[in-house]
Amino acid sequence: MCGIVGILGNTDVAPRLVDALKRLEYRGYDSAGVATLENGTLVRRRAEGKLRNLEALLERSPLAGTSGIGHTRWATHGAPTTANAHPHKAGGVAIVHNGIIENYLELRDEIAARGTRTETETDTEVVAHLVNLEREKGLSPQEAVAAVLPRLKGAFALAFLFEGEEDLLIGARKGSPLAVGHGEGEMFLGSDAIALSPFTDRVTYLEEGDWAVVTRNSVRIFDSRNNEVERSESRSSVTAALMDKGNYRHFMAKEIHEQPEVIGHTLSRYIDLGAKQANVSGIETAGFANLNRLVISACGTAFYAGLVAKYWFEKYARLPVEIDIASEFRYRESPIGKGDFALFISQSGETADTLASLRYCKSHGAVIGTVVNVPESTIAREADVMFQTIAGPEIGVASTKAFTCQLAVLATLAIHAGRIRGVLSPEREADLIEGLAAIPGLAVQALKQEIAIERLSQPLSRTANALYLGRGTNFPLALEGALKLKELSYIHAEGYAAGELKHGPIALIDENMPVFVIAPHDGIYEKTVSNMQEVAARGGNIVLITDERGAAECGDVAGKIVVMPDVHEIAAPIIYALPVQLIAYYTAVFMGTDVDQPRNLAKSVTVE
Ligand code: F6R
Repeated sequence: MCGIVGILGNTDVAPRLVDALKRLEYRGYDSAGVATLENGTLVRRRAEGKLRNLEALLERSPLAGTSGIGHTRWATHGAPTTANAHPHKAGGVAIVHNGIIENYLELRDEIAARGTRTETETDTEVVAHLVNLEREKGLSPQEAVAAVLPRLKGAFALAFLFEGEEDLLIGARKGSPLAVGHGEGEMFLGSDAIALSPFTDRVTYLEEGDWAVVTRNSVRIFDSRNNEVERSESRSSVTAALMDKGNYRHFMAKEIHEQPEVIGHTLSRYIDLGAKQANVSGIETAGFANLNRLVISACGTAFYAGLVAKYWFEKYARLPVEIDIASEFRYRESPIGKGDFALFISQSGETADTLASLRYCKSHGAVIGTVVNVPESTIAREADVMFQTIAGPEIGVASTKAFTCQLAVLATLAIHAGRIRGVLSPEREADLIEGLAAIPGLAVQALKQEIAIERLSQPLSRTANALYLGRGTNFPLALEGALKLKELSYIHAEGYAAGELKHGPIALIDENMPVFVIAPHDGIYEKTVSNMQEVAARGGNIVLITDERGAAECGDVAGKIVVMPDVHEIAAPIIYALPVQLIAYYTAVFMGTDVDQPRNLAKSVTVE
């Protein structure tokens, strides 16, 4: 993962590099560093931990210079120490890197044989050494980089800064994104347009295999065969404002509470309320009317959104869905080709495995759609049809509002597909649309349970394990609940289809096991009550999330009940996501973990 930035500016760049890194912290936050040229000499500051540590270091020990590069790290090779923090340096070459150099051991042996020792455990340092060795042979910076790039296996976005070269940055990309920003007498490199947003909205995205030679007044771009190429410049719509938490303690809390509004925005893009119809532009192009199957792939929470959608597409559009996590799909050699439609779900639009799966499907001739939150992301740009979620920037590492907005888009897609496939009657469609349209108001009601949820989460913060159960569209929600609890509070949790419990996991149940059951009073509620009886009989400590009817009809199996408003079946996974998010949030708050930036995680997973 990691975020990189480079600036050829007209004022001191260190504070500007830090400003850009703040916007890239979602890509990793276990160490950070910057390098500048002070009177032509390479100087660096690097710090372990969050970016604020680097900021403090720079306050104590500032860096001058108008040319520089910066990095925020999510460690892949080597512990997150200061020594392993980027920029890495060899002779007069400094480098920042996002990605993984897969053949770094081989390259390290080679440079060791040439008498050069590496100082860090990273895969990146070898690249700086290789370029420096080429420079020592008398090659120019550009020639040295051109000689080294073809030797690197794996994925990378790189930015190079050279001692004595005040007006030069070189950037390269293969597998990881990199953009060139155009200023007035200034130029920039950055992992994305968000990093560049304080400086410019004029952006050129490098394409796969491209590398760029950047000066204050020019950029020359070369492809992987070293042919000079033209890449178009576009206007980025990313806002330069840094997001703030408003009156909330954490971004996650703010984002949970934004859901009534952003789900409303998202639904209003895809619903015609007057006609009581789903109105998803692009769905006809995508050929949904005649599809034999829909292929969906995504990672983590976005994958769970896809799992919910499988129930919807199959039920409301009679469209068979094949869904897989992207890290498996990309290597599975799944038969896919012309006439197929593949849908990729992603908040960031940069997730490496999701992108690789997209490219696999595209190269085999499938039409590509994406449900994505960042419209300028690589996945958005490479898809044929984009269904954007209007969640706004999601800063908390744990996905909340992006998930429910993904569900909102997917629900409208399934309904629209149902209509054009001749499956849904106008009455049935109108009923589903009314169910969706009620969500913003119902979400406000659901959030009123916050204090009750805060109370019940306190004892959970002392537990070591938890289970989540659900049936139908609440099964993926059980998986999502367990994921949220794990990532935020580091409590081990598992989600199961309620009916699957007796096939093994029930052995885990004893009086110390909290079991969250997500069960609105729907057509299969009674089945779930039977599963709760099985848990209660073994002493399990049940927290039931249901509606008033469910609460009235559950007998005395649940130790605690969280009561949700009555919802239409299509709205249930969206509304029931809210208590699930709040449980994980308050448990983490009680435990004192870093809610917005949990350990070992990053918001955007750009390595496989
Ligand atoms: C969990 C979470 C992750 C992401 C996953 C995919 O809270 O946020 O599981 O859902 O890394 O990320 P995107 O949606 O950016 O592709």
